[in-house]
Amino acid sequence: MALLYKADPQRGERWRQLFAEHAPDIEFRQWPNLGNPDDIHYLAAWQAPDDLATVLPNLKALLAISAGVDQLNLHTLPAHLPVARMLDPNITAGMCEYATWAVLSLHRDMLRYRAQQQAGQWLEHTGVPASERRIGLMGLGQQGRAIAQHLRHFGFPVSGWARSPHELAGVQCFAGAEQLPTFLAQCDILICLLPLTAQTCGVLDGQLFEQLPRGAGVINMGRGAHLVEADLLAALGSGQLGGAVLDVAQQEPASTAHPFWHHPRIVLTPHIAAMTHPDSAFTVLLDNIRRHQRGEPLTGQIDRSTGY
Ligand code: GLV
Repeated sequence: MALLYKADPQRGERWRQLFAEHAPDIEFRQWPNLGNPDDIHYLAAWQAPDDLATVLPNLKALLAISAGVDQLNLHTLPAHLPVARMLDPNITAGMCEYATWAVLSLHRDMLRYRAQQQAGQWLEHTGVPASERRIGLMGLGQQGRAIAQHLRHFGFPVSGWARSPHELAGVQCFAGAEQLPTFLAQCDILICLLPLTAQTCGVLDGQLFEQLPRGAGVINMGRGAHLVEADLLAALGSGQLGGAVLDVAQQEPASTAHPFWHHPRIVLTPHIAAMTHPDSAFTVLLDNIRRHQRGEPLTGQIDRSTGY
């Protein structure tokens, strides 16, 4: 029985060592060296090959090596195939670090101080205490819930919005389209952590920005397609938004001509908020294979009808 790995080849070597050491009963194969495809029962991948059912006729589960699965074209995968997201604790830790850094950067007006430093200006501005900076999280899954708890430690009032109702200690939760305007009206800094689906594509648009308090900050840690980039530029230009921290872009890598690179009110990072670490992810992935072998449900198994 074999597992096929189809993702970053460099990290693949580490995966190979981990399988050899801890799960010698599972033969590790790396794309595109399939060997006999009939032996392959598990696929660990960032993107699945086209025509999966033909390429891997005996596949039993698709184990994504990412927290998001929007890159997988779920509707083209065989309907019976279980698909799991990667719930690597190191991804959550990375997301918490990035969100904390991004929130504190906006909260402490670092874009302005960076510009002042570049201009050699020693100039102080009055800030607001954390207790008066309201943070709102769109998306209350594993990442959103962990980030909410991290941010609460600084004294920020934290609220969250999701499609369905949630309960979270110390976090005011809003749900559904009906409560979205009330949620947005009290977000001084909005963080997008939503899964990318047909419903959430382009959710961060001009109409949404208009509903935030004037001068609000936006952090996108979801996917580039959540954001209507032209609307962000317009909202920053009009002062409706005060700043943005973006870890993702519509097109990655962003072209050298992209207006985000040199925008004074935007911090852009190259999709590095969190990365899958083979060592911790291996434990999660192997546990899922063992679960599947025992006939138990997978950790992080997605609902194919909602796409997350
Ligand atoms: C990265 O973006 C991931 O989904 O893990």
